[in-house]
Amino acid sequence: MKVAIIGSGYVGLTTGTCLADFGHQVIGIDNNPEKLAKLKSGVSPIYEPGLQELITKNIAAGRLSFSDDINLAIKESEIIFICVNTPPKTDGAADLSFVEQVSHQIAKALNHDHKIIVDKSTVPVKTAEKVKETLLQHSVSQAKFDVVSNPEFLKEGTAVKDTLEPDRIVIGVDTELAKQKMLELYQPLIIKTKAPVKIVSVRSAELIKHGANTFLANKISFANLMAQICEEAGADVVEVLDAIGLDDRIGSQFLNPGIGFGGSCFPKDIAAFKKTLETLAVDNSLIEAIEKINQQAVNRFIQKIKKELWALDGKKVTILGLAFKPSTDDIRNAPALKVIDALLKEKAQIIAYDPQAMENTKKTFPQIQYAPSAEAAIQGSEALIICTEWDEFKKFDLVKVKQLMTEPIIFDGRNIFKPTEVEKLGFKYFSVGR
Ligand code: UDX
Ligand code: UDX
Repeated sequence: MKVAIIGSGYVGLTTGTCLADFGHQVIGIDNNPEKLAKLKSGVSPIYEPGLQELITKNIAAGRLSFSDDINLAIKESEIIFICVNTPPKTDGAADLSFVEQVSHQIAKALNHDHKIIVDKSTVPVKTAEKVKETLLQHSVSQAKFDVVSNPEFLKEGTAVKDTLEPDRIVIGVDTELAKQKMLELYQPLIIKTKAPVKIVSVRSAELIKHGANTFLANKISFANLMAQICEEAGADVVEVLDAIGLDDRIGSQFLNPGIGFGGSCFPKDIAAFKKTLETLAVDNSLIEAIEKINQQAVNRFIQKIKKELWALDGKKVTILGLAFKPSTDDIRNAPALKVIDALLKEKAQIIAYDPQAMENTKKTFPQIQYAPSAEAAIQGSEALIICTEWDEFKKFDLVKVKQLMTEPIIFDGRNIFKPTEVEKLGFKYFSVGR
């Protein structure tokens, strides 16, 4: 099938590349000239494990290309994916202006063929109806298109794997034609993975995405609440949550306490969902609590650092991990940025290291130092602060780390070490909820 992907970011690029790998003819569109130039030369503008290889393979096979010619892409494609970003407005509601803009562009470019317009971007419930209304405003006949909601559940860092091995495929459709076309599109994946396919109404599909993200964020905030309780009660949150998570009804995933959830999705989607609840006059106190505990997680960590290090002015502190989670170069809403901000206010001398996210962080914090390796960042440090649980940090030779440091203090925002083992080596060790 011929597919156009409007918006080749984390979601669009991964989706488009995987669809090409299933054998479809995919054209990726993006209005960012820098990004597009890279894509046209076959280079992924983002770091995502396995993505570059898949892009190279599918460009070589002639199934994947990139362009800024949105009109041509729409005219030539049977299925058009909207994958543009839906950033938060100042009040937390999702800013749908890019989705609207693209809807106008689609309406103007439509030819006589029937088109399936798929909303892949995370949007509030009833957005598909807005897309439909926009097309109808342009006097496009209803018979010429269907608007479908097909939310993505990929996680950054494992985006390709999540797309190729999904837990489920959710397709929100209003017509039999749209259902058949979407099933045809995903047929190679359905056959290969036997992933359950949920055919639901468009509104349900839209709510499934926001509901899933809110539930996952809820689990993390619950874990962080338990961490607060354990700190005050003198218990070990890792022991507590390990045992709680063994209950099949609860599950151990997304139950890791730390310095809170970040990224381009959870904070934004939870804020947008809160607004949806307000619009629907549904009590949103659960969502408010999720957000509040998430802010407390990073704030309590910062307070711990300030209390222990006392006068931070001129103190050499190392930040390890800048990305909002491991295996990505993405720093959007990364808790590490809040830690850096707070330490800069205290005039600490910050040296940071991250295996992938330093280039992005340099744009926000040009005034701090960046080290070429973890070892170089730790050299002469008076405090080590771990903000992201990269594997290379978990594998540290802590004896060597201690030798490199001037003061052996570790603030571990992701609980990557065992307190007894670190303390045995002579470190002062502060983690979360233990
Ligand atoms: C974003 C949202 O964060 C996510 O919730 C949603 O499901 C999909 O879009 P992501 O892919 O991570 O996810 O965003 P981003 O990497 O910013 O990609 C969006 C792309 O769309 C960018 O490359 C941007 O240049 C492009 N874009 C944006 C267009 O091509 N046209 C526009 O009008 C606006
Ligand atoms: C999330 C959803 O998981 C995905 O399904 C959706 O499509 C997009 O949003 P993503 O933001 O890429 O994916 O990463 P995720 O792995 O969910 O992590 C989000 C944040 O939660 C990270 O900051 C991570 O550090 C934090 N987290 C995750 C925890 O603090 N504890 C956990 O147990 C799990």
